[in-house]
Amino acid sequence: MHTEHQQRRDRLMAKIGNGTAIFRSAPMAVMHNDVEYAYRQDSNFYYLTGFNEAQAVAVLAPHHPEHKFILFVQPKDREKEVWSGYRCGVEAAKEMYGADEAYPIHELDEKLPQYLEKADKIYYHLGRDRAFNETVLNHWQKMMRTYPRRGTGPTAIEDTATVLHALRLTKSEAELKLMRKAANIAVEAHNHAMKFATPGCYEYEVQAEIEHIFRLRGAMGPAYPSIVAAGKNACVLHYIENDSQIQNDDLLLIDAGCSYGYYNSDITRTFPVNGKFTPEQKILYEIVLEAQKQAISQVKPGNPYNLAHDVAVRIITEGLVEIGILKGEIDKLIEEEKYKPFYMHKTGHWLGLDVHDVGVYQHGEDKPQILQPGQITTVEPGIYIVPDTKPAEDQPEIDSRWVGIGIRIEDDVLITDTGNEVLTAGVPKEVSDLER
Ligand code: GLY
Ligand code: MN
Ligand code: MN
Repeated sequence: MHTEHQQRRDRLMAKIGNGTAIFRSAPMAVMHNDVEYAYRQDSNFYYLTGFNEAQAVAVLAPHHPEHKFILFVQPKDREKEVWSGYRCGVEAAKEMYGADEAYPIHELDEKLPQYLEKADKIYYHLGRDRAFNETVLNHWQKMMRTYPRRGTGPTAIEDTATVLHALRLTKSEAELKLMRKAANIAVEAHNHAMKFATPGCYEYEVQAEIEHIFRLRGAMGPAYPSIVAAGKNACVLHYIENDSQIQNDDLLLIDAGCSYGYYNSDITRTFPVNGKFTPEQKILYEIVLEAQKQAISQVKPGNPYNLAHDVAVRIITEGLVEIGILKGEIDKLIEEEKYKPFYMHKTGHWLGLDVHDVGVYQHGEDKPQILQPGQITTVEPGIYIVPDTKPAEDQPEIDSRWVGIGIRIEDDVLITDTGNEVLTAGVPKEVSDLER
């Protein structure tokens, strides 16, 4: 990954010209009463360095004559390492991570100015670490104060997100390998869960089976809290209690993905646990499935990002009209967002180092993001007949036979040169495959 990270840094440096970019590692692991929880590196930091320790700062200074990539890290400390784990240390930071220069983190204030004084701009993302934001601002202020004597120095700060996130949006071959692995592990876990789940078992048992496979196959763990939602629990979008017993004629909605080498998968399937859809479940399921397939067919190079969502909304609205849950003219219902009580979220999001990955969906009102090869998005339409939903004034009462049904189908879709590849196609979603 050495050259891979180097290439990423080079690409970023080509965009920042005479600027200096500063990146902060994720803050220390969360502590709860002296127990330390798992540390997870900041995605931008990881993307550019592959370095996964806390208390680190990475600096990119393309204009510096000798040091283009500088790492500030925690120094080796035998006693601390016995308690909290291995540290790479200053010396190895150069060798292992390709830094041109490395310093102990406590020398940041002393060493950073030499990388700022010739820069015309600082690239930095204001993060949640307020103290570090202040450190960067203080350095900028000092540079401005001494500017008249030098005639050089950063006269502006620009958020790194604009340049970096555009790079992260298109996945390299090395990234695709990890994405495929994350997808394949989650595919295996979903297939296993479908066989395992039966009426009478508890949602958490299914969750345990899924997460067992994640770890067994080398994933770091779930990409996000796994959702295992039986019956009306599926109408809560982020249901994570997973503590109900699954009833005989329940649909089971499982939204679970794993994180492998920091890259994520995100799959949802909804299926009848007893092997047979009720007529109502089947009707709604087929609407969602059609919406998902049509939406996926719009995920291809040259199409605007939002097209998949627009297509899904149309099919769902038409379907709801056909079965009498909505009433009226389709275009008007869509324009007035009358489908929203039943389909309240978007049809997808970018996927990568973050589950809801970085990258814009729209460049201002009239300029959509145009899909390009190497990008990965989820496609995840759903219908949720949430109990106690009050129909809008001009809309019919909801027949009780639909109430409490929640369905979502989600796949991870890679945009290719010619169209797309569904990375998670290995989990069945056809009615005939879900019924036994
Ligand atoms: N599971 C998170 C999502 O689907 O966006
Ligand atoms: Mn999901
Ligand atoms: Mn998702």
